[in-house]
Amino acid sequence: MTLAFDDVGKGRPVVLLHGFPLSRQMWRPQQDALSGHCRLITPDLPGFGDSPHPVTSIEAMADAVADLLVHLNLTEPVVLGGLSMGGYVCFAFVRKYADRLAGLILADTRAEADDETARANRDKMIGFASTNPPSAVIEQMLPKLLAPSAAPDVVEDVRRMGAAQRPATILAALQALRNRPDSTSTLEEVRVPTLVIVGKEDALTPPPLSERMAANIAMATLTVIDGAGHMPNLEQPQAFNQAVLDFVHGLGGSIV
Ligand code: MLT
Repeated sequence: MTLAFDDVGKGRPVVLLHGFPLSRQMWRPQQDALSGHCRLITPDLPGFGDSPHPVTSIEAMADAVADLLVHLNLTEPVVLGGLSMGGYVCFAFVRKYADRLAGLILADTRAEADDETARANRDKMIGFASTNPPSAVIEQMLPKLLAPSAAPDVVEDVRRMGAAQRPATILAALQALRNRPDSTSTLEEVRVPTLVIVGKEDALTPPPLSERMAANIAMATLTVIDGAGHMPNLEQPQAFNQAVLDFVHGLGGSIV
């Protein structure tokens, strides 16, 4: 499994995993701000962006990320972060590759699996995505992805990224999202410092979910970002970047 990725900066490796239905391009505002302080690695998850081979499970996405670390000869533990779907991949990674982790960043995500209602909605979306292009899928999702106050260029960026994904990837990933396991018991397995971040106006994974997640992880801190919905890294990049930088610096022992 080969993933397309960007790899910028030097120092402690920080790997960030994008949300659905986007690509590594969503981390562009993080590249400039973080690459002076750490080594930032941002892959396209399987099938997204420039990566081939869509997969139908979150675990297979985590396996692909673990393979990438091997490919990069990264033997030292990394800080792994993910937004929403990327966070689900982090949980799968914790279950299989905990010894590869130095820290965890969980942004706008949830530990719970889809419940009955969410699965029924997922099935509707799978039906919709079977007969409509990715541009229509992202259009449906946009109102929930961003806060009402989101800047027009951020809205346009998310629209463009979503529309650029392949239909087969959208369908495969929707299966993966629908069938992902519950990760609430995984929270107790997290043995590394963890930063939980959430946009205050996140409509998809609202702040109380992040509060609960942080409360159930032994070494977690929670940062709530004002003026942001589900994508605080794009909506309020400065606040997001600062939270990540403070966290990474706080880990100490930078391995430049
Ligand atoms: C995401 O942003 O990755 C999605 O909202 C995840 C999901 O639909 O569960």
